[in-house]
Formats: sequence, structure tokens, C-alpha cells
Amino acid sequence: MNVVTPAKADLRFTTDVKRNTAHLYDKVKKVIPEVEWPVYAPLIDRINQLKKQKNAVILGHNYMTPEIFHCVADITGDSLALARSATKTDADIIVMAGVHFMAETAKLLNPSKKVLIPDTGAGCTLAESVTAEDVRKLKEQYPGVPVVTYVNTSAEVKAESDICCTSGNAVEIVNGLGVPRVIMLPDEYLALNTAKVVKPEIITWKGRCVVHEQFSPADIQNLRATNPGVVVLAHPECSPEVIAVSDYAGSTAGMIDYVAKHRPPKVVLVTECSMSDNVAADFPELDFVKPCNLCPFMKKIELANILHALEAEETEVHIDPAIAVKARVSVERMLNGWKPGA
Ligand code: 13P
Ligand code: SF4
Repeated sequence: MNVVTPAKADLRFTTDVKRNTAHLYDKVKKVIPEVEWPVYAPLIDRINQLKKQKNAVILGHNYMTPEIFHCVADITGDSLALARSATKTDADIIVMAGVHFMAETAKLLNPSKKVLIPDTGAGCTLAESVTAEDVRKLKEQYPGVPVVTYVNTSAEVKAESDICCTSGNAVEIVNGLGVPRVIMLPDEYLALNTAKVVKPEIITWKGRCVVHEQFSPADIQNLRATNPGVVVLAHPECSPEVIAVSDYAGSTAGMIDYVAKHRPPKVVLVTECSMSDNVAADFPELDFVKPCNLCPFMKKIELANILHALEAEETEVHIDPAIAVKARVSVERMLNGWKPGA
């Protein structure tokens, strides 16, 4: 874990800082109390100056807190959008405001760039649930069956896989392989939810997301009972039982698109709770019910350690070149399309 002590002298809420950040406060005023702004604004102002000086870009996952998501991130989105945007940036430095596997994916797609993660402890229970050795054993057990690996995995696991997927493209990837059977890992629930709507049979693994596995069908029923008319949008890392009692299932970007398109007057996003704040800031007229499950890994990323990452240019993500070359193939196949035997 990185210990971060920003230089206090540079971080006063001066009239310049207030002026420079006024347009940003306007974006988040529905979700950040005015009294908190003098703490955030100096960090935001300094980060935004440093990005310009260093030709750096910040990629921000939808689970970042609003002061990161709306005020310093240059590109925001779900895992798929962040991976795609990582292939397009001209920046010299990429700071991942997200978790470690996302930073590794950005590095795989930008081997010559400096990719920084503000806190190396920003892991993921799904990424921890499977090792490269586990994948090798599965391939021995099911010879010739393609391995579709969720991006929420280490580069070592991606290197043993045939193709990656995210929650935003899992159905398309699995159907696109044109095979009768696939191994899909590590998220058991994503695999089971995908299995319900794709043609191939799916062999699952036992990984779980610590945030989404906590939601139960009873939680959804309670939400509906206490919030009549609420529209329930759930992430496919939730159990199939939760998805069955929800109105829509989709990736974090899928949920945002649903809100933008349908504008449900009262809505609940059954996922990590910072996302509701981020979407609420964009749709102030809608009522967001917020069941609060925080991802302890995503919440390790803060303005202070983003600033430190930019100032000290650490911690840089390195991937063993022999692993990277194989892992990159799995990610690029996801982005560019692939069929076994092609
Ligand atoms: P998406 O943003 O791809 O839906 O993934 C959710 C997630 O849990 C990432 O950690
Ligand atoms: Fe991993 Fe779940 Fe946190 Fe996403 S929300 S980083 S899947 S633990």
C-alpha cells in the first residue's frame, strides 16, 4: 500500500482554486456538500494542472467517488470502455482510477507507456479467486474447450486464456465463438447469468465479487416494498436469483445507458454504491434509492493518492514480458473479435 502525504502548503482553498474549480463543483453539487468542497478542490486543481504538465490521462471506473469521477477523470466508463479507451490515448502517462486488473489491462494495451496505480492494494476478490495453475488444470480436464476469462483477473490468468470478456460483452463473446461448450471464469454468477441467454454450455468457476454477492432476492423485495414503483437495475455479478427479480441486468455502463434512455423517476442500481452518486449527479431530476455496498478495493483510490501518483510517477505497473505477450492476445481478441481455429 502506498503511504501518501500531500504537501499541505500547496493545498489551500485559495480564491484561484475556488475559481478554477467552480465549474466542477457545479457538476457534483447534488452529491457533495458545499462544506466538503474546500477539502477536495485544492487536490482537484493540482491534479488537473499536473495532468496537463505531464501529458497524463486519468481513466476513472464508474465506481470511483464523484470528486474523482466527475472532477479529475478524463475518461470514465465500465471495464470494457476503459480497456477500449486505453488503446486510443496519446498520453505519456495513464493513471488508473480503478483497481489493479484494470491498470494491468491498460498496460497490456500500452506496453511503452507509463501506467500508474495510485494504491497497489486496490485488488479484487474475483481476480484473487483464480490462478494461472487453476486455468492450466481446467484446460487439462476439458481439452479443446475455449477459456473465456473475465477481465477481472491477473495478467497471468489472462495469459492462460483464449479470450477475455467483460460484463458488457460476455453474451456476445460467448455466442461469437461458435462452439458447443466454453469454460467461463472466474465469476460463477456472471457465468450462470450468461448461460441463461447463450447457446453454448458453460463450465463455471467458483469466484464471487464481494460487493455483488451480498445482494439477495429478499433485499430486492424489501426495496420494492419500501419504494413503490422503483425500477431495479442489477449488475450480472449478482446471483441469478437477484437478476430474476430485477427489471434489467447489465454492466455498469449498461445501467447508465438504461437510466439515460428510460429516465425512471425512481431507480435503484444494485451494484457498488458510488455509482449511484455519479449517475445522480448527471440526472438530478431522478430519485436514486441507494443500498450501500462499497467495494473496499475501489475505495482505496482517493484524490490524495492520485495526486501522489502523478507527482512521484508511482506506482508503475510492470508485467513480465513473457506473460504480457500472451495476455495481450486474450484482451485484443476480445476487442477485435476472434473464433477458435481462426
Ligand atoms: P463493469 O464496470 O465492467 O460492469 O464491471 C464491474 C466491476 O465490478 C468492475 O470491478
Ligand atoms: Fe472486484 Fe467486485 Fe470490487 Fe469490482 S466491485 S473490483 S468485481 S470486488
